[in-house]
Amino acid sequence: MKNRVLVTGGAGYIGSHTVVELMQTGYEVVIVDNLSNSDISVIDGIEQIVGKRPDFVNVDCQDYVSFENVIKKYDDLCAAIHFAASKAVGESVEKPLLYYRNNITSLLNLLEIMQNHGIHNIVFSSSCTVYGQPSDENLPVTEKAPRLEALSPYGNTKHICEDIICDQSRANSSFKAILLRYFNPIGAHPSALIGELPNGVPNNLLPFVTQTAAGLRSELKVFGDDYNTPDGSCIRDYIYVVDLAKAHVAALERMLKVDSEPVEVFNLGTGKGLSVLEIVRGFEQATGVKLPYRIVGRREGDIEKVWADPTKANTVLHWKAETPTDQILLSAWRWQQHLMSKANKQ
Ligand code: UD1
Repeated sequence: MKNRVLVTGGAGYIGSHTVVELMQTGYEVVIVDNLSNSDISVIDGIEQIVGKRPDFVNVDCQDYVSFENVIKKYDDLCAAIHFAASKAVGESVEKPLLYYRNNITSLLNLLEIMQNHGIHNIVFSSSCTVYGQPSDENLPVTEKAPRLEALSPYGNTKHICEDIICDQSRANSSFKAILLRYFNPIGAHPSALIGELPNGVPNNLLPFVTQTAAGLRSELKVFGDDYNTPDGSCIRDYIYVVDLAKAHVAALERMLKVDSEPVEVFNLGTGKGLSVLEIVRGFEQATGVKLPYRIVGRREGDIEKVWADPTKANTVLHWKAETPTDQILLSAWRWQQHLMSKANKQ
């Protein structure tokens, strides 16, 4: 039986946690990653957790020939999970071509290579960004909520990639896809051996919180307290990265073992919205560490509030995001401490 999964971007934040869950479930893995937003030490972390090193190839998915040469070496691939993509919203506004080229070319190459080599199943990393700011009657967001016009080139690449996958499915009866729309992934593996590795100044909330708590940044800037929310700060659905990783295994097994629809979409969230200020207070309570913060103006392009209705994933994938928030925040802090002790040793 074919038992190997191609994981593009498997050295990245969500990818690495997914590789761990796949290997612990008994799958073989080959990671294709150009380390553009990660580090080779992630592969060591995976090996330490699982007790076995995943196959890893340093190749850019945009490089068709090298990418296909990797795939040619394996005759046991049953599916691909496609994480490899650029993901910084602000950077995508400044460098739209880089985003369109990387995110779309990588997917096109992957789909063509899959077609050439008889690989019929793909799980795709999409995002709740495709819903934009849902209207109040669409909150919490189900998969039936309309996709709204993207607010950034990054968001637009998620729209376009979802559409490309749907078109490919229409043209090929044996092709199956699951589109996973993530809400806000946070936290790190409980071992503190893998986690998020932001490049430079973090854009996302949690890495900024942990770096501030560690004294690497003087204060957290809370972007706006004048939103139409109970405490005025923005609301998101923060999902534990390990729970999210497990959803990929559930999605993969559904595609491989169940006679499911050719393309299925699932929202991956907790179903609970938390404000930025609730995260700040929750972090302080979970870790006992004081977090200096200041309210500043709104960040351009931020939406006010969004959280998931995960019922479809709960019932169809038999998966649920269950980790308590304090445990998630503590895992993020432990990971930050691990990074600091590693830096001190060097
Ligand atoms: C956005 C996208 C998400 C995408 C992600 C990639 C939406 C709803 N979400 O996440 O799909 O995958 O970018 O990066 O479009 N905040 C602060 N101070 C900070 C940093 C963040 O107050 O220093 C606040 C933000 O204003 C926001 C919340 O924290 O309210 C979360 O921000 P962030 O972690 O950047 O994620 P999103 O912008 O929600």
